[in-house]
Amino acid sequence: MQVILMGPPGSGKGTQADVLSKKLGLPHLSTGNMLRREIAEKTPLGFKVEEIMGKGLLVPDDVVLEILAKKLASPECSQGYLLDGFPRNVAQAEMLDALLAKTRKKIDAVVNLEVTRDEVVRRLSGRRTCMACGTVTHVSTTASNACFKCGGQLIQRQDDSIESVTTRLDVYEKQTKPLIQYYAQRKLLKNVTAMGTPQEITLRVLSALGLSF
Ligand code: AP5
Repeated sequence: MQVILMGPPGSGKGTQADVLSKKLGLPHLSTGNMLRREIAEKTPLGFKVEEIMGKGLLVPDDVVLEILAKKLASPECSQGYLLDGFPRNVAQAEMLDALLAKTRKKIDAVVNLEVTRDEVVRRLSGRRTCMACGTVTHVSTTASNACFKCGGQLIQRQDDSIESVTTRLDVYEKQTKPLIQYYAQRKLLKNVTAMGTPQEITLRVLSALGLSF
């Protein structure tokens, strides 16, 4: 099963992908996480993309496709995957279609998480990520500065500043939102209201996918 999770920044793509990955036994492929790993490991690619990501702009399509294509070809993805953060524009969607056609695979569903702009700002301004294990949490649910899973230090993402969030939302409106029509035309789109608790949203996503647990 190949599923795309899309939605504006802070709509909960990563949160839902983590839960669904465990429930469905599919790898969670986040291009944002892959790029942040390159930055943390100080690779040449990481240096190339750090400034772009800090500003909230999109990394060039060919750069993202290169790291994603390697992942998709790996054995861990042979039974399917959950894509989070890719594609980000129509050109990337076409590149993905071309890549899948070579392996005779196809996208089964595109889950579009719908959330208000005010809620996005609330979520992103309070998001904290564990430096050690990558767990994502929110200041409203954590009393301390330590990760509830491993005790690692929680930090704020560089692109969660109010300036970068504003840019990311503008980029989403101009470049990513047209994908809603792209996938609706292909009858793959499943709109899901992403307001409410993460657990409520997981149930809605599973129902949209025709699955229940
Ligand atoms: P990426 O990492 O993909 O960021 P994004 O799309 O902006 O999405 P976020 O990770 O900010 O949010 P999310 O929807 O995953 O929400 P989350 O679950 O964390 O991309 C970052 C950058 O990388 C891009 O700007 C670009 O530069 C580059 N990039 C990545 N992919 C690219 C591509 N394909 N092409 C080009 N460039 C690319 O939740 C957010 C917060 O809300 C958390 O604190 C969470 O705990 C909380 N929360 C989640 N659900 C709920 C809920 N239901 N109720 C209350 N709080 C909630």
